[in-house]
Amino acid sequence: MYSQQVIDHFNNPRNQGHMENPDGVGKVGNPVCGDVMYIYIKVKDDVIRDISWETMGCAAAIATSSMISELAKGKTLEEAERITRGDVACALEGLPPVKMHCSNLAADGLQKAIEDYRKRRGMA
Ligand code: FES
Repeated sequence: MYSQQVIDHFNNPRNQGHMENPDGVGKVGNPVCGDVMYIYIKVKDDVIRDISWETMGCAAAIATSSMISELAKGKTLEEAERITRGDVACALEGLPPVKMHCSNLAADGLQKAIEDYRKRRGMA
């Protein structure tokens, strides 16, 4: 039921793990299943220099966390803010409709991490 891209990112997750002293953290929960995701970012000159994540969730949630970390790394905050839930699903060559709610976590988590960064800087 999963695309090759989803299976690949699930089996070989990119940028997975905790980050010490992040500049921003986004925490999101999936109300449907109770799973939780954290996205950590380090920002320099308005660019996401580093990103990592911890996801207690299903294969779709892990694959989308991995994919969004690749999509967002090296992007400016403005560019990263424009990454949508659909972009992530599309980069993973689609997700089963029943899993769309899981995949939404990653895009929401990234937005929250950026929001947190701006708050910490007194920019929000
Ligand atoms: Fe919980 Fe997918 S079932 S994140």
